[in-house]
Amino acid sequence: MADTEDTIAALEKRNGELQRLLEVARDHLGEMRATLAEVSAPPQTFATFVQWAGKNADIVSNGRRMRVAVLPVAAEGLASGDEVLLNAMSVIVGTAQPERAGQAAIVREVIDDDRVLVVSRGEDERVVILMGGDAAARVHEGDTVIIDPRTGFASQKVERTGVEALLLEEVPDVDYSVIGGLGDQIERIRDAIELPLRYPELYREHSLKPPKGMLLYGPPGCGKTLIAKAVAHSLGEATGSDRSYFLSVKGPELLNKYVGETERYIRTIFERARAKAHSGAPVVIFFDEMDALFRARGSGVSSDMETTIVPQLLTELDGVEDLGNVIVIGASNREDMIDPAILRPGRLDVKIEISRPDAAASRDILSKYLTAELPLDAGEVAAHGGDRSATIATMISASVASLFHDEASASYMSGALLRNVVDRAKTRAIKHHVGGGDKGLSTAHLLAASDQELREARSVAAREFGEY
Ligand SMILES: Nc1ncnc2c1ncn2[C@@H]1O[C@H](COP(=O)(O)OP(=O)(O)OP(=O)(O)O)[C@@H](O)[C@H]1O
Ligand SMILES: [Mg+2]
Repeated sequence: MADTEDTIAALEKRNGELQRLLEVARDHLGEMRATLAEVSAPPQTFATFVQWAGKNADIVSNGRRMRVAVLPVAAEGLASGDEVLLNAMSVIVGTAQPERAGQAAIVREVIDDDRVLVVSRGEDERVVILMGGDAAARVHEGDTVIIDPRTGFASQKVERTGVEALLLEEVPDVDYSVIGGLGDQIERIRDAIELPLRYPELYREHSLKPPKGMLLYGPPGCGKTLIAKAVAHSLGEATGSDRSYFLSVKGPELLNKYVGETERYIRTIFERARAKAHSGAPVVIFFDEMDALFRARGSGVSSDMETTIVPQLLTELDGVEDLGNVIVIGASNREDMIDPAILRPGRLDVKIEISRPDAAASRDILSKYLTAELPLDAGEVAAHGGDRSATIATMISASVASLFHDEASASYMSGALLRNVVDRAKTRAIKHHVGGGDKGLSTAHLLAASDQELREARSVAAREFGEY
């Protein structure tokens, strides 16, 4: 009896062990099955979700439009343009990371809330759908987006650090009123550039071709860049469009950053300008220090780069014709170095010299920086019977007389120098006041600043002269 009980106990124990082994084996089997299922699962296909069609979804997979079913787990929050996964039965089973690579295209026009017209590969135009709800609000003409040519979706815009970074494009807030002493030049510029934009039909009637651009040349610091900005600003008003663009390209910067690629970037600049101009907004392409880029061919000054860059610019200039609202402005201190082909009729044929200011022009420039609202020396204002404008006029006269006292100073006078005089005088006035003196700008501050500026300009000129 006792024997039998022992046997039963032993058998029960074995039974328990066997059961445990069985469980372990089953777990193993399960794991292996899962692994087998994982490795032998048919591949899932990527597709782009377009829109809902009832409970089904319209998608584009491999360039094919399809209507497919959606697993409930994958359905939540699906938005057009999302990347989804299809199982072997072409059912949406999940979502995937969006595609990050693709073809770059430039936005030419924002059509509506979610569609834009883009150009890619030269002149290939197509309409693509922007992903993301408020996408269209964030994309503007001239931006670069990634498109998937097969699905017609564009993902978010690409911030480019290449040539785009060299292009400054906000509308400059400089208008003609801040420029002093260049009245005649400004009038010529407005006639050459604004008239054709305001009255295109008159130009057609008279079969007069509007100029494509102009060259501003003259010594440094006399207002070339300032004028180019003012042109861009006023073009927006002249054409009645609320916007205008200013693509500014600095010659030496472009050369240094893109050795050997400059032609391509010149092409990109014009492509971008055309895209921006497409909406009707005027675009100014400004080549600063133009002589660095478009040096006369065969001048032997540098490598042979000008033999390819100059023709590239000529090609682009000749192509600007179809778009009246792209204007090219070049600026240079050395117009004699620029390839003459660029300055021939039909190209940058309007040449305007921005010369050094004489005494009268200097008065005008100073009056832009010295205004009656500034804190003025109370004694001087009182001496003018409280008339602040008259006080300013006297201050300006005294400064100009002192600046032009030496005949030679006319040869280094510039708008930049005059502005510096005023800034320095203001600094003196502030220091004087902070140090316990009376508040306000005085003639003495201006005269001291003039003196200091002239002395520095003279020594710079002497140093430059010494180098030759
Ligand atoms: N005619 C002017 N009226 C008012 N301010 C001027 C004038 N000319 C120059 N200035 C002042 O000098 C600064 C430099 O001028 P600007 O950049 O237009 O010179 P620039 O002719 O382009 O010189 P650079 O050849 O060195 O590029 C301006 O920002 C402005 O403050
Ligand atoms: Mg300049």
